[in-house]
Amino acid sequence: MKHLNLQIPIIQAPMAGGITTPQLVSKVSNLGALGSYAAGYIKTPQMEEDIKEIQSLTHKPFMVNLFVPEKYIVDPDAVQIAIKALDPIYKKFELTPQLPSNNPEKDLKRFNQQIDKLIELRVPICSFVFGIPSKEVIQRLKDNDILTMATATSVEEALAIEKAGIDIVIAQGIEAGGHRGGFLEPMQQIPLTTLLPQVVKAVAIPVIAAGGIMTKPDIQKARELGAIAVQMGTAFLLTDESGAIEAYKESIIQEKQDNTVLTKAFSGKYARGIRNEFIALIDSQPENAILPYPTQNSLTKSIRKSARKNQNPQFISLWCGQNGYSGKRQSVKDLLDSLI
Ligand SMILES: Cc1cc2nc3c(=O)[nH]c(=O)nc-3n(C[C@H](O)[C@H](O)[C@H](O)COP(=O)(O)O)c2cc1C
Repeated sequence: MKHLNLQIPIIQAPMAGGITTPQLVSKVSNLGALGSYAAGYIKTPQMEEDIKEIQSLTHKPFMVNLFVPEKYIVDPDAVQIAIKALDPIYKKFELTPQLPSNNPEKDLKRFNQQIDKLIELRVPICSFVFGIPSKEVIQRLKDNDILTMATATSVEEALAIEKAGIDIVIAQGIEAGGHRGGFLEPMQQIPLTTLLPQVVKAVAIPVIAAGGIMTKPDIQKARELGAIAVQMGTAFLLTDESGAIEAYKESIIQEKQDNTVLTKAFSGKYARGIRNEFIALIDSQPENAILPYPTQNSLTKSIRKSARKNQNPQFISLWCGQNGYSGKRQSVKDLLDSLI
């Protein structure tokens, strides 16, 4: 493939939350597909350590994914309402709610540090989600020979990404597990088979397809619709090499049909996951019980951490694509063998 130079046109999606371990990323890249490391929630020193580990495990290209910082304000009154809604869950886990310490300036500082580090460590490919970085950042990455990608959930976003000078666009259909990667309001809810041909027609840059892709026929379909490659999350989440906890993988495997929903309950931003007790409880509250992203994410962090420790799938975010129920627990090698 011209732009990515991949033997296998498959990208293992970046998945924040400790899923894309150096072992997973390097294994995927070593087998000829593209591994990617999610650095969105990761502090720069930890990111550096993990990237160095990936580099010690593979000489093949890999990708690092960053969250483009957003503007927001933290409203203390809204925080109190959100804390009240979460109170029964804090009590259940014997937790004391911590006031969110989010600060957009701090987010931007960290983002710029991450960019510096990617350049210093000569990371070959960098992808973005939740926005488009500044002109200066894109130019610096280009000057350092780093290939760039960004996520679009609509034609409008894809055009903005192309106009900004990003090399490749990832078209994310509504089926996708995890957060909606778009950045323009109102949020679009377009299935991949509708979105993909429109994006391919609208832009001149290469397009990668993401959302609900689990099988070889799914990949063939995306290729027929014009994608140069696919980005798959849930299928790789279920592999032995992924860092997802046992209870999470089992929850997906046990599904017999799609039971995912789009919810803001965990982070304040729409994301697709399997409906569980946490989502049901927050859904039963008035809408203003959920803070905007990223403050809701900070408020629910201790709950998710505690539930993870106890392998309790009812109170963690079970991000999963709409076709995740058809997935299998297997090694990365077996998964890739079944796809090519
Ligand atoms: C657990 C999980 C975490 C994710 N985290 C990220 C992330 O940090 N950055 C990103 O660009 N996309 C993230 N995504 C979205 C994926 O890039 C991709 O769009 C999605 O997995 C495709 O749908 P699928 O899961 O049905 O394959 C995540 C997806 C999942 C399932």
